[in-house]
Amino acid sequence: MAKPISLTRYLVEQQRVDGHIPGDLRLLLEVVARACKRISQAVNKGALGGVLGSADSENVQGEVQKKLDIIANEVLIEANEWGGHLAAMASEEMDSIYLVPNRYPQGEYLLLFDPLDGSSNIDVNVSIGTIFSVLKKPEGSPGVTEQDFLQAGAQQVAAGYCVYGPQTTLVLTVGDGVAMFTLDREQGSFVLTQENVRIPEDTKEFAINMSNMRHWDEPVKRYIDECLQGKEGPRGKDFNMRWIASMVADVHRILTRGGVFMYPWDKREPNKPGKLRLMYEANPMSWLVEQAGGAATNGKQRILDIQPKQLHERVSVILGSKNEVERVTSYHSTL
Ligand code: AHG
Ligand code: MN
Ligand code: MN
Repeated sequence: MAKPISLTRYLVEQQRVDGHIPGDLRLLLEVVARACKRISQAVNKGALGGVLGSADSENVQGEVQKKLDIIANEVLIEANEWGGHLAAMASEEMDSIYLVPNRYPQGEYLLLFDPLDGSSNIDVNVSIGTIFSVLKKPEGSPGVTEQDFLQAGAQQVAAGYCVYGPQTTLVLTVGDGVAMFTLDREQGSFVLTQENVRIPEDTKEFAINMSNMRHWDEPVKRYIDECLQGKEGPRGKDFNMRWIASMVADVHRILTRGGVFMYPWDKREPNKPGKLRLMYEANPMSWLVEQAGGAATNGKQRILDIQPKQLHERVSVILGSKNEVERVTSYHSTL
């Protein structure tokens, strides 16, 4: 059997052999992976580690923070701030950007993350995860401002997530396809378990929170209604539905076996473009999905082309198997 390839070796090859990533980006990704390992340990301990339940606080989005939201945020900051690869960070759990303190060396990159995705699943022992996106700090600007973060997803230099499920799996792209690494707990390292991940272009599986149906817009209603009609309807095939309510776990399933994931705009909060956040949820996931041959839009345009106006901006999300995403998107222009 061939010798297992560790994340470290994979990244060294991306740097040296293929010239895809600079050395400091490689080191930054190692630090993020290390932080994910620590979060994974905290998740595994659950009630024994005192990490379940809510904290007595709210984040900038008005959501009650879980203890693990705060712990994961602190682990990511602590692991990254002294490494010398970053200029600043931004997180779902912090109102504004976090500058690397002056006492530490300053780097070239900006790191954005959703430290703990799928918070409603923490206490019920269902898969959750961490999502991250790396941007380059714009050249020539002294210091860092929030404006420096407001780059379209197409500018990302690395993106990924770590899912804490029956296995802990890190999924990564640096623009050279998608690779998956499973955490070997005995060795304490991430091991390459799948390369060149591809999403089938067609699917019979969709993921959407059906309880919001009455609030959806017409194009989304039409698409789901046609799926639900099964063999007898216009699609001529039966569809299956899955909704885990952790974007990481739903996207992981789609990267593994195809499907379409949607969290569309709805009438509950008409002034917000959607529930999910553009910069640290939709952008990294959209790049991964595109790198695996899928597609990602907000119904009107490619997510990676959206010019962000705010750090915590929200967006409508349709991503996954290419032909289905194109179909839902086309319904938005014909209705
Ligand atoms: P977060 O826990 O980071 O706030 O994200 C939760 C998101 C996402 O993971 C998931 O797809 C969605 O919220 C679930 O929403 P519902 O509660 O409507 O199912
Ligand atoms: Mn999230
Ligand atoms: Mn979160």
